[in-house]
Amino acid sequence: MSVLTPLREMPVGNIFRKGDVFVLFGELFGRGYVNGLLDEARNAGMTILGITVGRRDENQQLRPLTAEELAAAEANLGGRIINIPLMAGFDLDAPAGTPNPTDLLADFKLTTWQDAKLDWAQIERCREVGVARFKSSLAQVMAELDQAIPDGANVFFAHTMAGGIPKTKVFLAIANRIYKGRGDRFLSARALLDSDLGKMILKNFDEVTANTFQHLIEASSGIRARLAKSGGETRYTAYGYHGTEILIGGEYQWQTYTNYTQGKAKMRLEDHAAAAWGQGIKAVVFNCPEIRTNSSDIFVGVELSLFPLLNALLKEGDGGWAHEQWKICQGLLNDGVELQSILDRIEAYNADSTIASFRNFEAWPMDNTAELADVMVGTSEEITSLHKDRKALITDHLSALVLEGTGPLIFHEASAPHGPVLWLNHDIIARQLVKMHKA
Ligand SMILES: NC(=O)c1ccc[n+]([C@@H]2O[C@H](COP(=O)([O-])OP(=O)(O)OC[C@H]3O[C@@H](n4cnc5c(N)ncnc54)[C@H](O)[C@@H]3O)[C@@H](O)[C@H]2O)c1
Repeated sequence: MSVLTPLREMPVGNIFRKGDVFVLFGELFGRGYVNGLLDEARNAGMTILGITVGRRDENQQLRPLTAEELAAAEANLGGRIINIPLMAGFDLDAPAGTPNPTDLLADFKLTTWQDAKLDWAQIERCREVGVARFKSSLAQVMAELDQAIPDGANVFFAHTMAGGIPKTKVFLAIANRIYKGRGDRFLSARALLDSDLGKMILKNFDEVTANTFQHLIEASSGIRARLAKSGGETRYTAYGYHGTEILIGGEYQWQTYTNYTQGKAKMRLEDHAAAAWGQGIKAVVFNCPEIRTNSSDIFVGVELSLFPLLNALLKEGDGGWAHEQWKICQGLLNDGVELQSILDRIEAYNADSTIASFRNFEAWPMDNTAELADVMVGTSEEITSLHKDRKALITDHLSALVLEGTGPLIFHEASAPHGPVLWLNHDIIARQLVKMHKA
């Protein structure tokens, strides 16, 4: 998908009510995006159901949650969890008696990984085993869901899955250099992408971040057909990322975090939604802004695009609640540091020619460069150091606001969606937040 299709109109429709079912397709973490959507489903009185990715035992075998883990996860979700492991990806899968990709990567060393080669025929066999495992578990999950979703109900499948980084020591060191490194410690994303290690990781991203959405849509076709016959509707949503429009120089402009290594997988996710849409299935990828979550914390600088949300809140509202947000954020800074000076710093950052050269939608996802890392990681570290407490950042507060705003937007738009791929930019999120907080 290479056309930017932002959602500009505030969605207000709602087909979901008590007795309808919300299925969370992914696990729930405290700061995760789906919290905003879950709030809406709960408010609508929907029955909440969830899944688990499972856990690994001491032999790396996938297992269901223990009774204790399950109880904690269900309490956290506020709904029943179908306890069949749905871990996606194939980094720990292999035909019996043969090495899995993580085993193969264990031989890669920090000094040799760029030239180290993988046995691609074996990787492909592992991929097939992983996909077959996922689809077989998914069929069991769907059989249980089929029992749990009554005729005539509407069902909302919310896909959150993204990931696929294999757990190898060498990659942790490489990731630290690609996403956090500057100067001597900088490593270009291209070096990773050109290596066998990088190619293997991209394949795994495809499976976890993109293809799980397709499997979900296909595996639920029976439920969809049954509900359609009895007057119930089925919706699918997924969280995408493909850059965000934020206020730069007083205008909403598209920008992105670079290097977004999962970019190709996220485009594949968009393609799956478009293909389903072509068959009359209401599946929508919502491309969402950069926020700080368990999954994004490794990307130093990803949070810089959040600051202009404070200006968007002023632009899109009457100011009262927006000023409160400014006050809260001001309170997180060291004494003597003005919030406006941080926003000025971000404005200068976005005007920097190095940073501006990455605002190239057609070329997305671009490789990073040493110059970019210097400015981006440097600015991130500088702004973080101006806070009273590194564990209570302005971007934590703004992340919580963004996920709160995306909840109702996704929930209502899914009722009568305009297309398979929609961007939720700072403009509409700010308008939604201001609307929600109007006294
Ligand atoms: N954080 C951001 O800046 C941002 C921006 C735009 C879109 N998103 C997307 O939002 C979605 C939720 O992410 P989040 O940032 O809220 O973080 P999160 O950590 O709360 O969610 C990540 C999800 O991925 C699932 N997952 C991870 N590895 C998996 C695997 N191997 N198999 C199956 N599932 C797996 C987890 O169970 C969890 O539900 C993701 O699709 C993410 O790409 C995030």
